[in-house]
Amino acid sequence: MIVTFTANPSLDRTATLDRPLTRGGVHRVDSVTVEAGGKGVNVARVLHDAGQEVLAVLPAGSSDPIVAALRATGLPHAAVEISGTVRTNLTLTEADGTTTKINEPGPTLTDAQVDAAAARLLAAADGAAWVALSGSLPPGAPVDWYARLVTALKPLGCLVAVDTSDAPLQAVVDALPGAAFDLVKPNSEELAQLTGEDPIWLEASAKRGDPRPVAAAARSLHERGVSAVLATLGAAGAVLVTAEGSWYAEAPSIPVRSTVGAGDSSVAGYILAAVAGASPERRLATAVAHGSAAAGLAGTTLPKPGDVDPDAVVIHRID
Ligand SMILES: Nc1ncnc2c1ncn2[C@@H]1O[C@H](COP(=O)(O)OP(=O)(O)OP(=O)(O)O)[C@@H](O)[C@H]1O
Ligand SMILES: [Mg+2]
Repeated sequence: MIVTFTANPSLDRTATLDRPLTRGGVHRVDSVTVEAGGKGVNVARVLHDAGQEVLAVLPAGSSDPIVAALRATGLPHAAVEISGTVRTNLTLTEADGTTTKINEPGPTLTDAQVDAAAARLLAAADGAAWVALSGSLPPGAPVDWYARLVTALKPLGCLVAVDTSDAPLQAVVDALPGAAFDLVKPNSEELAQLTGEDPIWLEASAKRGDPRPVAAAARSLHERGVSAVLATLGAAGAVLVTAEGSWYAEAPSIPVRSTVGAGDSSVAGYILAAVAGASPERRLATAVAHGSAAAGLAGTTLPKPGDVDPDAVVIHRID
């Protein structure tokens, strides 16, 4: 069983515009889709489509539209009752692939709702192989919620992945080495925030084909107590640092259609390879194959096994 936790889920409304977005203009929408979303929900969907037993845990009222949307997808989920309505996040896509995202903050959770969500997650995690903690935190949740959850989850024997940004990511790293965990998946901006590097320099080096600055920054996080650091670099691929070594994977060059869900698909790919007992190189290749497959699929479409080819990913060992 793989459990995902989406602290601040969203109903994702994606509108395709008939012409490029102009500030202050009036736009018509060619098509609109509404789907249950949030990073942990996306990770769970990829894993579920790959045949894994999953459970997506999220705070949401039983009559919330996101629960109806989840039921319609058939994704196993556990919604923990809250009083507010789950947010709607709006994505505007244009014909050339440009996407504009407008994210709401989400409903405010009470202390009792935060405790109830944590209790449900811990119950689900008992006996699980992996737990993925994904995305932003809702108002009302403590900024170190993920760090506290890591501390509560690790004694259950599961492996824990964290994919978040800004203050919640900083808090989970500040809690190291005490609240040590198994996988963190920063992108170049998040990695730079955590390590004090310049994000433009990190990304530019990787684009030039020199992943060593990213690997050095990722290694500094690994040394603080995260077993595996998967630093994703968009079109430049990803770097993995573990106790066994450091590797760089080039992203297959594909026509990019929508990068929505690329990071979440990378996390799902890593976990899929990890539960299959794969080597670090293969975990990295599977993560990048999933991320790049997501980038090559239109809209919010997430990769299915037939979309993914880890053998096509070129891996380099970094000394
Ligand atoms: N333009 C692209 N071309 C090819 N692959 C891509 C592209 N963008 C993303 N990917 C793939 O997706 C992975 C994750 O992308 P990225 O580093 O942008 O994640 P992220 O910023 O965390 O995304 P998210 O917005 O989903 O959180 C990359 O490692 C790569 O495999
Ligand atoms: Mg991300």
